[in-house]
Amino acid sequence: MLILGIESSCDDAACAVIETAEPGNVSVRASVVANQDEIHRRYGGVVPELASRNHLITILPVIEDALGAAGCGLGDIHGIAVTRGPGLVGSLLVGLMCAKGLAQALNLPMVGVNHLEGHLLAPLLEHRITMPYLALVVSGGHTALFVVEDFGKYRELGRTRDDAAGEAFDKVAKLMGLGYPGGRVIDELSRRGDARRIRLPRARLRGAPLDFSFSGIKTAIATFLASPDSGGVASEDLAASFQEAVVDMLIRPTLAAARNLATETIVITGGVAANSRLRVKLTEAAANEGLRVLAPAFKFCTDNAAMIALAGSYRLLRGERDALDLDAEANLAL
Ligand code: KG4
Ligand code: ZN
Repeated sequence: MLILGIESSCDDAACAVIETAEPGNVSVRASVVANQDEIHRRYGGVVPELASRNHLITILPVIEDALGAAGCGLGDIHGIAVTRGPGLVGSLLVGLMCAKGLAQALNLPMVGVNHLEGHLLAPLLEHRITMPYLALVVSGGHTALFVVEDFGKYRELGRTRDDAAGEAFDKVAKLMGLGYPGGRVIDELSRRGDARRIRLPRARLRGAPLDFSFSGIKTAIATFLASPDSGGVASEDLAASFQEAVVDMLIRPTLAAARNLATETIVITGGVAANSRLRVKLTEAAANEGLRVLAPAFKFCTDNAAMIALAGSYRLLRGERDALDLDAEANLAL
């Protein structure tokens, strides 16, 4: 079965073609992403109106590129999977309407997918993983721990009470004058910095050991930058100290959750899963407890349509389809 995936929940317009015969066993024939970082950079964050307007321009060329790279045409596709939430509603609508138009014109089954389900299953694009597994979703919009029990069966164990980890990276990068998006820049700068240079707090939530909080660390950096002490500190050291604190605050709840589960695999997924320090430190800490850590390749960590096609594939394989009056939902729950 060849499945066309479409994703446009935030500022990336993406299309992918995957091939599958059984749930979770897929091969990615093509995955194309049109990134809008250049457009939003000058505003220091995603401007929803600009994101949806640019999706309108790029979505059809992105679909054509993906089909071309996969070496097939629309006539070869057997089903369509499209993100229907959560996300920016104007952005979601562009991908969803496009999917509906194709489904109607080609008489193909279409299923709506939850964007988070895409991130949770993304590691299966490259690895065979026995379920249940623990998944830490860390991106610009989400920070949460889930147990993936089966396709379509996910249990949330904890989540952030305020900012997402990626949001903290982006906001701190902005405070430090490093541009947008900031995660990758802070990651690179930190490699040359000393993480012990500045003492920063690690938030711990009383009575909620599996929840996260990143608003305090952001304030701590803002306060530090406004203080006279900041003059003598190199930006590499500040970046490394901040990154180490965020990584510690991600690792503690993740290991606490893993200890209570009958699983040997922790999966990290979402844009922040690309962070080199998080990968190394979590892998070492997990190995001490006999657990392995898996992360998707960078192109499947950040928003992409291959993970959406995969998340829709088990339903399409079962012969399911959603009606064409399916709506986009900005706050869609998993
Ligand atoms: O998954 P994603 O592409 O979009 C959302 O669904 O949010 O994640 C984007 C986020 C941004 O906040 C970006 O700063 C962060 O992932 N990010 C990183 C790194 N690469 C991207 N954060 C830390 N370290 C990185 N290497
Ligand atoms: Zn995402």
